[in-house]
Amino acid sequence: MSNKTLTITDNRTGKTFDFEIKNGSCGPAVADLTTFYDKTGMFVYDPGFKSTASCSSGITFIDGEKGILLHRGYNIEDLAENSDYPEVCYLLLNGDLPDLQNKKKFIKILTHHTMLHEQILRFYSGFRRDSHPMAVMVGIVGALSSFYPEKTYDFSSEKGKWVAVSRLLAKMPTMAAMAYKYSLGQPFIYPKNELSYSENFLHMLFSTPSGEYKPSKASVAALDKLLILHADHEQNASTSTVKIAGSSGANPFACVAAGVASLWGPAHGGANESVIRMLNIIGDEKNISQFIKKAKDINDPFRLMGFGHRVYKSHDPRANVLRKYCHDLLNEVESFNAPLFKLATKLEEIALNDEYFIKKQLYPNVDFYSGIILKALGLPESMFTVIFAVARTVGWISQWKEMTESENRISRPRQLYNGKEIRQFIKINKRKKNESMFPEHIE
Ligand code: SDX
Repeated sequence: MSNKTLTITDNRTGKTFDFEIKNGSCGPAVADLTTFYDKTGMFVYDPGFKSTASCSSGITFIDGEKGILLHRGYNIEDLAENSDYPEVCYLLLNGDLPDLQNKKKFIKILTHHTMLHEQILRFYSGFRRDSHPMAVMVGIVGALSSFYPEKTYDFSSEKGKWVAVSRLLAKMPTMAAMAYKYSLGQPFIYPKNELSYSENFLHMLFSTPSGEYKPSKASVAALDKLLILHADHEQNASTSTVKIAGSSGANPFACVAAGVASLWGPAHGGANESVIRMLNIIGDEKNISQFIKKAKDINDPFRLMGFGHRVYKSHDPRANVLRKYCHDLLNEVESFNAPLFKLATKLEEIALNDEYFIKKQLYPNVDFYSGIILKALGLPESMFTVIFAVARTVGWISQWKEMTESENRISRPRQLYNGKEIRQFIKINKRKKNESMFPEHIE
């Protein structure tokens, strides 16, 4: 018996089935179950995909037990400390860090595609002013697919993929900043080619026609680190959404719009907004214990937002880096909301010493501190997940590109069916009175 197979026995029949065990370069091996249904006539059942590897990938490695996050083999801590966001984008896309010449060329290309087609600006006016900026982003990013149609761009070709990659990376900050300006009723601010990626983003967010915003070095550094720390994270919900949409050959701009929609959820990228809301509701350290109690109560839907992770069961390395930047920013940005940071660190300290959180392996995740930094940069909670979406665009599009270059079968899971078995149709005049499906008191 090869030591590279997993043997499964069906005790109902005594039949055994062998499945090949495949090892990656590091991390858990996989049992290749692609032939499981053909061999056993059964499906593998794994709602939420807790034990499922959906693909093979060389972009990001996470060790949830040790709290390790690597991008193309480089530690996230090293990248956050020593790199910048455009360089990390190049690394995720290309597989290695750029030399100086390639870095300059990459930045030049991105810089020269930051503008939006003027007609896209008209889409914004169709939204209510009080729309959530993520609703706007889903619409605008999706609309971009009409400006890069398949009839003009062959997205299966190297050239076509590059158009999708470069335009999305270049234009996401512009679209995001315009969503913010639209919510304020302020004029859109156009990108400036002489500014760096993060400086340009802050310029478009906070400048006005009557006054140029000159971000502090600390603010530019904080934003750039935030973008790096949110760039990619293996096969998370929004990345899987982009890839499932892409597996049908859909327009990559529309696929990224689907990723924006998935990221919006409070269980995913929407958590950073919920963390600040939660801290504001807790309000004071004396209230922390009652909220910890609520989070532990299985009958209470309240969860400690920014805590817990499907993969990290020791600590989220990104949260540790963000806590440090929060602290550094305290000294730099006078408007920095120190009480909120103090409350967050106290909440973390109490939760990490509570046996419920220890037993359930719940630690602060990337969303716990990011909101505090974004607030210090002057952004409202409603923009927090938009910034996450801008940062994660490189992860979405790198994983989409890798998928198009490797296995490219349409993603089509099966199910455990628990509905009605086959039955005869009954004409309406023969049907018994049945329970109505409508909620009470609705017309
Ligand atoms: C992100 O996947 C990624 O990589 C995501 C991300 C990325 O970079 O793409 O890292 C970004 O989405 C970070 C997560 C942000 N979400 C939050 O902070 C929301 C609060 N956290 C949770 O809702 C939850 O922890 C999840 C969604 C993050 C993880 O959910 P899982 O893996 O399905 O775990 P679970 O819900 O089954 O929880 C396990 C247990 C449960 O108790 P039991 O049912 O076993 O009794 O832990 C409890 C949960 O009730 N629990 C919490 C909790 N999170 C889980 N209890 C209190 N507070 C919490 N935050």
